[in-house]
Amino acid sequence: MTKHKATALAHPNIAFIKYWGNQGSDWNLPFGNSISMNLDAFTTTTTVEFDYALTSDQLTLNGQPAQADALIRIQKFMDRFRQLTNFTLKANINSDNNFPTGAGIASSASGFAALALASYGASGLPYTEKDTSALARIGSGSASRSIPTGYTEWLQGTSHETSYSISIVPQNHWDLIDNLVLIDSKHKKTTSKQGHQIAKTSPLQQSRIETIQQRVDICKQAIIEKDFITLADISEADTLLMHAVMMSSNPALFYLAPETLSLIKFVRELRAEHIDAFYTIDAGANVHVITTTSSQAQTTAAIQQNFPNFEIRSSKTGGPARLF
Ligand code: DP6
Repeated sequence: MTKHKATALAHPNIAFIKYWGNQGSDWNLPFGNSISMNLDAFTTTTTVEFDYALTSDQLTLNGQPAQADALIRIQKFMDRFRQLTNFTLKANINSDNNFPTGAGIASSASGFAALALASYGASGLPYTEKDTSALARIGSGSASRSIPTGYTEWLQGTSHETSYSISIVPQNHWDLIDNLVLIDSKHKKTTSKQGHQIAKTSPLQQSRIETIQQRVDICKQAIIEKDFITLADISEADTLLMHAVMMSSNPALFYLAPETLSLIKFVRELRAEHIDAFYTIDAGANVHVITTTSSQAQTTAAIQQNFPNFEIRSSKTGGPARLF
C-alpha cells in the first residue's frame, strides 16, 4: 500500500500592509494585496497521514485531542482539499506549535500553511508553491503569505486559483526583527473572521481599499531597497487605517488598549531620535515593534525600561513553509 504521510513546518507572519475585509464567501478572497514578513522564531509542525481505514479526519493539537470547534474547522478545510484535488482519503493530523497559546502570536497562519503543505505532500499528487499558498488561504487568509520565503505579497486575485502569495525577496535579503510587546495575552473577543465580514460597514473601508495598491507599491519598493524609513511610514499609516476601519465598523471593533497607544507614541519618539523602530498592530492590543539588527538592543532596552511589565518576544525574518 502506498504511504500517504508527510510532515511540514511553517512560520507565522506579521503584515506591513494588512488584509482586512473579504468578499464574503468562505474562499477568503480579499479586496486588495497585502505584504508581510515570516517570523523565524515561531513554528507550527504538522504531520498529515491519510489512512484508508479512517471514516473522518482526526486532529491532535499540541499533544491533546482537538476541541470540537477546531476539529470542525480542520475537517471543513480537508473537505475543500479533497474537493479541489479529487483525493478521497481521510487524515490523521498531528500539529504542534513551538509557542504557547495566548503568547500573542496567532497560530492560524502557520497552522494552515503547515497543514496545506503537509496535505499536498502526503497525497502524493503533483503541486506547486502557488497551489499550496492558495489552499492555505482557504484555512486562514493570512496563511497564504506563510508559504513563500521571507517577505511575501498576497496577490488579491479574482478566484481560488489566482489568489495566492509570492516571495518579494528571500529571508536573507534584509535582517529585520519583529519584537512583539505582549500587552494582552487573552483571546480576542471578536475573531478576524467576524471582523472581515463587517469591515464593509465602515464608511472608511471603501477609501482604504481604493488606496491599498499605492501603499503596496511603496512598501514593496522599500523592502527591495531596504529603505527602513519609507517602510516605517507606510506600515504605520496602513495599521492606523485598518484600525480606523475597525473602530468605525458596525458593531465597532476596538482592539487597542490604553497601553497600546502609550507604546506607539513611545516608538514614534524613538524614531524621532533616529532609532530605527516602527510599530504595527493586528486584531489585538499587542504591538509589534520592527527594528533592524543594529537598532534592536537599544529599542528593546528602552521599551523594557519604560514599560517594565510587558514581555517582549523577538523574531528574525523567516523562511518558507517546508517539508521535512
Ligand atoms: C489583522 O488571516 O487571521 O492579522 O482568514 O479569518 O483567519 P482569517 O483571518 P486572518 O486575518 C488577518 C488579519 C490581520 C491582518 C493581516 O495579517 O494581514
